[in-house]
Amino acid sequence: MANLRLTTAGESHGKALVAIVEGLPAHLKIDKTAIDAELALRQSGYGRGGRQKIECDRVEILTGVRNGETLGSPVTLCIYNKDYQNWENCMSDGGCDEGKMAQRALTKVRPGHADLTGCEKFAWEDARNILERASARETAIRVAAGGLFKAYLTALGVEIGGYVKEICGVKDEKTYAFDELKKAKQTETGMLDEVAAERAKERINALKNAGDTAGGVVEVRVRGLKSGFGSMMTYGEKLDARLACALMGIQAVKGVEFGEGFAVGSKSGAAVHDEIFFEEKRGFYRETNRAGGIEGGMSNGEEIVVRLAMKPIPTLMKGLRTVDLRRKEACVAASERSDVCAIFAMEIIAEAAVAEVIATAVAERLGGDTAAQVKERYDRL
Ligand SMILES: Cc1cc2nc3c(=O)[nH]c(=O)nc-3n(C[C@H](O)[C@H](O)[C@H](O)COP(=O)(O)O)c2cc1C
Repeated sequence: MANLRLTTAGESHGKALVAIVEGLPAHLKIDKTAIDAELALRQSGYGRGGRQKIECDRVEILTGVRNGETLGSPVTLCIYNKDYQNWENCMSDGGCDEGKMAQRALTKVRPGHADLTGCEKFAWEDARNILERASARETAIRVAAGGLFKAYLTALGVEIGGYVKEICGVKDEKTYAFDELKKAKQTETGMLDEVAAERAKERINALKNAGDTAGGVVEVRVRGLKSGFGSMMTYGEKLDARLACALMGIQAVKGVEFGEGFAVGSKSGAAVHDEIFFEEKRGFYRETNRAGGIEGGMSNGEEIVVRLAMKPIPTLMKGLRTVDLRRKEACVAASERSDVCAIFAMEIIAEAAVAEVIATAVAERLGGDTAAQVKERYDRL
């Protein structure tokens, strides 16, 4: 079996988004409706913009799955962009209408977006050639691929959950057992604390009225992963490093922390490290999990706890000050139809990214041509 590998392609208003996942074992059960349910969640949440009303994402599996089971060949996933029909004359691969392209050109580059630097780097005068790929629309196909990685992990008894901890200064300071996390997906904000959720909605409303935007903090947890995944042997193999890389790779993520995270810098060793105990029945165990389930770049058998910070959405309806790329004149930044807050979606996307990294680390260590072989090897650990 090849190593697990994900590649995505597709523009925000292009024909479609696609992903190829290589290295899945044969006989893995794939439930398309479960993937579509994740896609629907990625499109929801309080504070989303108009695009979500146009799209109704459904995955199409083009290769690698037969009658609900993987074949062991590369799996190709596809999500068609409904909005393409409104953009075909300026987004198709040939014969575009120059007038329409000029109309839809974005030159009033947005602070906080990829517009300006992308145009400088790739030599464009229309930031649409940059934003079409920089856009978080790409995360739809990553979530779909995440459904495959989750299927791989679920078969081993490894579960992923999460919730929204903060929306633009409104915090949920409580802690939750893993089984409580499921409820977050049934809320509008992704927050479990109802009082905080109401205050967060008020905050989003106020920001929307002011033409402003919000970010937040998400916590993702992994339960059931045995110890020893990832490795301290080289820095690139460290599980925390790989998770941080995948999470930082999501649009708008600006910080990642594990367990106690940044707070460790202001505490003593005795207040930070998880002491180790042994009982015949339980084997080695810890009574605390301040490390967030990873020591020395390896899973230690405790729950993995990772949090990430999302910056506020860069497109502001009130528009920030900027400079027109062509005219070199001061102006107000473009304000395309946009989200005010997308932290609920971020939680879903982050789960998919975590699933990819954990599944890849498991596949590297265990190999296996069939799902049964992987399971047998995992159970033997
Ligand atoms: C789920 C999600 C939705 C987003 N929606 C928007 C949006 O509507 N408008 C916008 O300007 N940025 C949006 N962003 C953020 C931009 O994609 C991101 O800030 C931009 O690509 C620049 O990348 P960087 O923030 O990682 O530097 C969204 C991000 C995510 C994860």
